Amino acid sequence: MITPENAKTSSIPEDFKIEMLPDDYPQYDLSFKIIFIGDSGVGKSCLTTQAVRNNFEEFYTATVGFEFLTFNMRINNNVLKLQIWDTCGQEVYKSLISNFYRNSSLALILYAINSRESFQHAETWLNDLKSQANPNVRVFLVGNKSDLENERVITKEEGEKFKEEKKLDKFIETSAKTGENARSALLEAAKLLYKDYLNAKKNLADGGGQDNQQGDKLERKPQNVKPIKKCC
Ligand code: GTP
Ligand code: MG
Repeated sequence: MITPENAKTSSIPEDFKIEMLPDDYPQYDLSFKIIFIGDSGVGKSCLTTQAVRNNFEEFYTATVGFEFLTFNMRINNNVLKLQIWDTCGQEVYKSLISNFYRNSSLALILYAINSRESFQHAETWLNDLKSQANPNVRVFLVGNKSDLENERVITKEEGEKFKEEKKLDKFIETSAKTGENARSALLEAAKLLYKDYLNAKKNLADGGGQDNQQGDKLERKPQNVKPIKKCC
């Protein structure tokens, strides 16, 4: 049986060969939806832009609804298309945002290391996500604005403890401003989802398709594993 827990200790090797591909790369084998959530102003838009385009915008423009970016890469012999949904953190849009939780393969819950309020709200974001999303959704906790060390109010230990208590998949601190860990957060997400895909495939080949947990995992297949698209 493959669950988020035992997938982490599976025999799938992790020495993946990764190659970045341009935004308009014309074909893909696997497509995953990744959603960024968290309070307004924690840096979701800046982090997605930095991770995908190596760019930082100091001027704050609140996202209205959501924005959508794609990030393509080759892992081993498969082309992955990551559909990245940058959502707005304002309370007034919360019910709209929760519609985007469905079909997400992985969520990054952001807080800012200089805002205790945003860290406290991470639990609310997690509960909202869990109530709407696929039960197997992967979750990363992200402490952004790590460059603001002199304003830090949330320690790394607090972030790590939250991740352990809530059994999340990863805790990472990032800076959208300096770029620290911005790209690697996305790469870690891609590697984890790719590993899940390999595990599901292996389990199916081993005849494990009858299992309920695995059934849930494979139900995601239509949105996760799309047919190869070619331009012309
Ligand atoms: P909403 O769209 O309202 O939900 O906000 P958001 O989470 O998308 O925040 P956004 O990315 O727009 O960033 C808000 C402000 O924080 C902007 O002024 C950014 O320049 C700043 N900011 C974002 N990330 C960082 C960071 O890592 N370090 C520093 N110092 N500032 C950051
Ligand atoms: Mg935004």
